[in-house]
Amino acid sequence: MKFFLDTANLDELQAGAAMGIVDGVTTNPSLVAKEGKDFKTLVGQICEIIPGPVSAEVVSTDCEGMVKEARELVKIADNIIIKLPTIPEGVKALKICVEEGMKVNCTLIFQPLQALIVAKAGATYCSPFLGRLDDIGHDGMGLIEEIRLIYDNYGFKTEILAASLRHPLHVVQAAKAGADIGTMPFKVFGQMLNHPLTDIGLERFLADFKKLQS
Ligand code: G3P
Repeated sequence: MKFFLDTANLDELQAGAAMGIVDGVTTNPSLVAKEGKDFKTLVGQICEIIPGPVSAEVVSTDCEGMVKEARELVKIADNIIIKLPTIPEGVKALKICVEEGMKVNCTLIFQPLQALIVAKAGATYCSPFLGRLDDIGHDGMGLIEEIRLIYDNYGFKTEILAASLRHPLHVVQAAKAGADIGTMPFKVFGQMLNHPLTDIGLERFLADFKKLQS
């Protein structure tokens, strides 16, 4: 499973990069707005910190506007992935972007047919939002399982990018359900290695070793 960071914060990305296990980045208009910086400059800086795929989202809602934005965004860096909303205009834009050689991440996926459609249209990534489904009492993880089954049935190469992961258990469940990628906030990334028994165990090892030296 690949790990992406779901943030546009440069400090978080630098700290993540230092761990050496971050494969890519996802951003969205809300995450970018939180940083209060010029969008394209910020995305360029993110692409330098993390050499893997970096998703940058369009904000137009019509096909023509989306494609126009996408053509500008791909000029920022070679590792830019165009993020498009999974709406009819977004699917039209997806086809055009794919024909022009861009890699596209289709976002805001909440049901399996949206995932099937974007795979047929050539998306590189499909992003189901698990946490937001859980928020309304639906089975976020069940959606990953359904998409995995459908993609495997037809041999689609579109990668399942499990998004809106809110805690480490979501990452475990997404991995078990066969998601190719988990994108997570920096907080969740930091929580993934935690276990109190690891800390207690290390403390004891070091205390015992110290006795040997005294
Ligand atoms: O990658 C999607 C993510 O940014 C949405 O997460 O927690 O706002 O549902 P959340």
